[in-house]
Amino acid sequence: MANGVATGGPVDWTALRAAADRVATRAHAPYSGLRVGAAGLAEDGEVVVACNVENASFGLTLCAECGLVSSLIAGAHGRLRAVSVTAGDGQPLAPCGRCRQVLLEHGGGGILVDAGAGRAPVTLAVLLPGAFDAEELDSRRSP
Ligand code: THU
Repeated sequence: MANGVATGGPVDWTALRAAADRVATRAHAPYSGLRVGAAGLAEDGEVVVACNVENASFGLTLCAECGLVSSLIAGAHGRLRAVSVTAGDGQPLAPCGRCRQVLLEHGGGGILVDAGAGRAPVTLAVLLPGAFDAEELDSRRSP
C-alpha cells in the first residue's frame, strides 16, 4: 500500500512493549547507559525488534529504531503498522527526530506509536508534523 498503513487486527500493545523491553536488555550502550529497545508490528503480522548500538566514536551510534527498520527491510516484512520504543522499563521513550523521519518512510504518518499503558497511541504524523517525504521529493526536483 503506497505510503499508508495496512489494515489489520488490533495491536497488542502489551506484547509489543514487552518485546521492546526484552530487546533493550541486549543494547550496547556503555557510553550513555540508556538501553533502548524498539519493537514494530509489520503488515505481515511479524514483530521486528532492535536495540541501540553505541560506538566509541559517539556520532556513529545506531538508534534502536534504525536497527528495527533495517530488520524490517531485510526480512521483507512490508510496512510498519505500530511501534513501541522503551528504555527497558515498560515506559515509552520518545523516538528522536531522525528516527521519526526514518520510520515515516516505512509506514507513513499513520504508524501508531506507543504512548504507554492506558494511553491511546499517537500517530507518527502527530510526532512529525509537516514532514518531508518521498512524495515531496518527487514533486519538487528540478526537471
Ligand atoms: N536512542 C535510540 O536508540 N533511539 C531514540 O529514539 C533516542 C535515542 C539511543 C541513542 C543512544 O545510544 C542513547 O539512546 C542516548 O541518546
